[in-house]
Amino acid sequence: MKPYRIAVLPGDGIGPEIVREAVKVLGVVAERTGVRFDLHEGLVGGGAYDRFGTPLPDETMQLALASDAVLLGAVGGPKWESLDYSVRPERGLLGLRSGLGLYANLRPVVVFEDLIDASPLKPDVVRGIDLMIVRELLGDAYFGKPRGVRIENGLRIGINTMVYTEEEIRRIAKTAFDLAQTRRKKLLSVDKANVLEMTELWRDVVTEVGRDYPEVELRHMYVDNCAMQLIRNPGQFDVIVTTNMFGDILSDEASMLTGSLGMIPSASLGAKTAMYEPSHGSAPDIAGKGIANPLATILSVAMMLRHSFDRTAEADQIEKAVRMVLKEGFRTEDISQAGARIVGTTEMGDLVVERLRAFSG
Ligand code: IPM
Ligand code: MG
Repeated sequence: MKPYRIAVLPGDGIGPEIVREAVKVLGVVAERTGVRFDLHEGLVGGGAYDRFGTPLPDETMQLALASDAVLLGAVGGPKWESLDYSVRPERGLLGLRSGLGLYANLRPVVVFEDLIDASPLKPDVVRGIDLMIVRELLGDAYFGKPRGVRIENGLRIGINTMVYTEEEIRRIAKTAFDLAQTRRKKLLSVDKANVLEMTELWRDVVTEVGRDYPEVELRHMYVDNCAMQLIRNPGQFDVIVTTNMFGDILSDEASMLTGSLGMIPSASLGAKTAMYEPSHGSAPDIAGKGIANPLATILSVAMMLRHSFDRTAEADQIEKAVRMVLKEGFRTEDISQAGARIVGTTEMGDLVVERLRAFSG
C-alpha cells in the first residue's frame, strides 16, 4: 500500500514537545497495522519568521499541499507579538487554513469520566458531555475586507468586516448536518440574527439546508444565550455549528467543561489535505519545561486516522488508551487533582504508547 504523506509542523512554544508525543503514537499505529506514514517536517509560525522572515514559507505551503494530512502543534508567543499583522505567527496558521481550503473546523468537547473533577463546573453539569463544535474557518471577520486601521479626518479608525456568502454558509451547514446525522441528530446553529444581518442570512441558509435533513432536529440560538447555556446546561447540545468568530470564542469556553484546553483536539477539513492540531495555543509560559499536556495532540492524531485515513478502529484505540491512562490516575499538571500521579509530557506520551501496544489485534 502507498504510504500516507504527513506534513509535521511543530511550530512554536510547546508545539515541538507535544507533536513529538503524537508522532510516537503514529509510530505505534504504523507498527500495528503495517500502514506507512512518511513524515516531513516544516516550519511555521514564529520560528519560520525568525528563519525566513515569513510565518508561512512557500516551502511549507508546498509541503502541506503535497501531503495527505498536516499535523500542527501551535504557533505564536510574546516574542512576536509586536510584529506587523502581516507576518505574525498567527498569519501562518490562517494562511495554511486558506491555502488548503479548510473551511470546517471540528472541535469535539468530550468530558472524560475520570477528569470530571478537573472541570471548574459541578460534576452533575458536565458528566457525560459529548458535543461537537463545527466552526466555519475561512470567512467572517477573520478574512473579510475592508480591514485595517487608518486615519480618517485626523483620527484613527479600525475596521473589520463580517462577511459570508450563501455558498460558504451552505457548505459548512452541510458538514454540520452530515455530522449530526452520525450522532444524536441534534444540530444547534448559533448566530446573532437579532442584530447582525449577516447572521440572519446564516440562519436562513442553515434552515434551507435543513430541509434536506428531516431526521436532524435543528434549533437556532443567539450567541450570547449559547455562551450562557454552555455553562448552565451543556448536556442539551450535540452538534453546534457557527461562524468563525463565534466558534473561536465558544470553543474556548466549551473546552473548560472538560477541565482543560489541553484535552481538545481539532480537525480542519475542506479539500484534499486536512489539518489536525490541538485546540490550545503555544503556551509559551511552560514551553521547554516538559510539563505540557500532549493529549489534545495525540487525540488529534486519532481524528486524523478517522477523517483522513478511514482508520476508525485505530482512532478508537488511541482514544481508549488515553481513557485508560487517565483512569489509572496519570495526569499532566494542567489536569492534576488530589491523589493524581503527575507526569511530564514525555511520560504521558509513553503511557499512551504502552497501553496502545498492549491491545491485541
Ligand atoms: C484558534 C486560535 C486561532 C484562531 C488563532 C491562533 C489565530 O485561537 O485556532 O482558535 O483565532 O482561529
Ligand atoms: Mg481560538
